Amino acid sequence: MEKLTGKKKVAVFISGRGSNLKSIVKYSKKKNSIFKVILVISNNPDAYGLKYAAKLKIKNYGVKFKSRTNFENRSLQFLEKYEIDMICLAGFMKILSEKFIKKFAKPILNIHPSLLPKYKGLNTHERALKNKDKFAGATIHHVTQKLDSGKIILQKKVKILKSDGVIDLRKKVLKIEHEIYPKAIIKILSSL
Ligand code: GRF
Repeated sequence: MEKLTGKKKVAVFISGRGSNLKSIVKYSKKKNSIFKVILVISNNPDAYGLKYAAKLKIKNYGVKFKSRTNFENRSLQFLEKYEIDMICLAGFMKILSEKFIKKFAKPILNIHPSLLPKYKGLNTHERALKNKDKFAGATIHHVTQKLDSGKIILQKKVKILKSDGVIDLRKKVLKIEHEIYPKAIIKILSSL
């Protein structure tokens, strides 16, 4: 087992591209960082984020979602093996059960591309534009069994311009996501 001299061990769960994973890893490589990403798990074995993790020699596993129980049990084995202190869901498109959350018994964070409690679930930017909102944004929150409903840790807004379409908004919000996720991780880890 890797010796990390006091660094907290973070696992990131992804389903696809992994740009948030990248920003978290980048941040963790800063001098004096209090955490290290040592495990990446994806329900999608073809996720680009897994390839990125492999390139950086971070332990990574594609765990097919044969059933929720199967996925969760296999993931828990890895989480125990690598003595993980925190899970960060980053573009992870599955819902974790209450049983899993209880068994892991350590913080699980999620990023959501809206100003929660507004627009839980999918198509957040489409809904913000349709409602002619003045602001969009991103939220990091604790994971509970209820989708996108756990306690908010950090949130940042961005102005919606009249000229903004879904793609513009997605781009703007993603930039904010990359900014606030590492900050939220530090905030929670330093309070443990
Ligand atoms: C992000 O917009 C995140 O908020 C949402 O899914 C997207 C994942 O992007 N849940 P990436 O895989 O981190 O690039």
